[in-house]
Amino acid sequence: MRVLVIGGGQNSEHEVSLASAAAVATALRSIGHEVRTVTISRDGVWDAAPVATPAESLAAAMPALSWADVVFPAVHGALGEDGALAALCALAGVAVVGSDLRAGAIGMDKWATKLVAEAAGIATAPGYVISASDLGDVEYEGPVVVKPVSAGSSYGVGLVREPGDLLDALRTAARFDSRILIEEVMRGREIDVAVIREAGGVRWAAPPLEIHAAGLFDTAMKYDGTARFTVPAALTPAEAGTLTRTAVAMFDALGCAGVARMDFFLTEDGPVLNEVNTMPGLTAASQVPRMFAAAEVPYPELMDRLVRAAADRRASRERSATSRRDHARA
Ligand SMILES: Nc1ncnc2c1ncn2[C@@H]1O[C@H](COP(=O)(O)OP(=O)(O)O)[C@@H](O)[C@H]1O
Ligand SMILES: [Mg+2]
Repeated sequence: MRVLVIGGGQNSEHEVSLASAAAVATALRSIGHEVRTVTISRDGVWDAAPVATPAESLAAAMPALSWADVVFPAVHGALGEDGALAALCALAGVAVVGSDLRAGAIGMDKWATKLVAEAAGIATAPGYVISASDLGDVEYEGPVVVKPVSAGSSYGVGLVREPGDLLDALRTAARFDSRILIEEVMRGREIDVAVIREAGGVRWAAPPLEIHAAGLFDTAMKYDGTARFTVPAALTPAEAGTLTRTAVAMFDALGCAGVARMDFFLTEDGPVLNEVNTMPGLTAASQVPRMFAAAEVPYPELMDRLVRAAADRRASRERSATSRRDHARA
């Protein structure tokens, strides 16, 4: 298939997205897909026309979009993972890997994710949202985690243990979003679960992964090579079953597609959902590919399945649109 891989993007995860996109492109080429790549700069300029404005460069990238059988938007964070690129592909009528606009947008918003999870009977850390313009009004009532409602890679996430540290943490979070989430500190093991929706619609979860982090799983640990993962996580069958069922339930509640990573704390009271990543890190060393490797799905094959799932979803949408039209005529 002809696959357009998009990387980069206009947020703090730009570099991570470059790494994901490069790995995805190499893997898809290695199994015989015809791959083109395009990179979005931090300023929103698509390198299809690097000297242009964002709008002009987007226009120049359109031929590549219509060339593609499938677009693979390996762009984490805002204006990528949040559904912006899925929306662009939907408008252009091109198959796209991963979740659609709605699931991407809700998954990117940690507060909205909480509301959906709680409504679906899935526990999350108790917390509340404030506006970045009201930082001074927050009172210290005990240890909390402070984080931007919408960011990633742990940017702006802080653990506050002393009243004197609260304002600094709030200001740091406010650099990344105008809404800030203040959460109770969850105690428990940090376990990630990856769920894939394959061509044909079957969803399944790979064996969970445990992150070993003393304290917060912070940005430095994520990318300096010191992160230690155990895949599969050492879990009882009951724990693994509850985690994977909960992950699939959340995947379905949001209506995700492609692959999504559901991150949990495994507490004494069971799994507590921390967050949903609808375009998780996709280098071969990232959590999701490592979980599928543990399920005997090698990295290039995982990328291939994602591309096929996207093409299949587009084809079945077209089939149902045609049958709706035929019904209307009849
Ligand atoms: N409520 C919480 N209690 C305990 N630790 C938390 C809590 N929220 C976040 N963390 C820690 O901070 C890390 C980053 O927070 P997260 O919400 O996952 O942000 P990001 O989207 O940037 O990955 C988590 O992996 C976890 O280690
Ligand atoms: Mg996280």
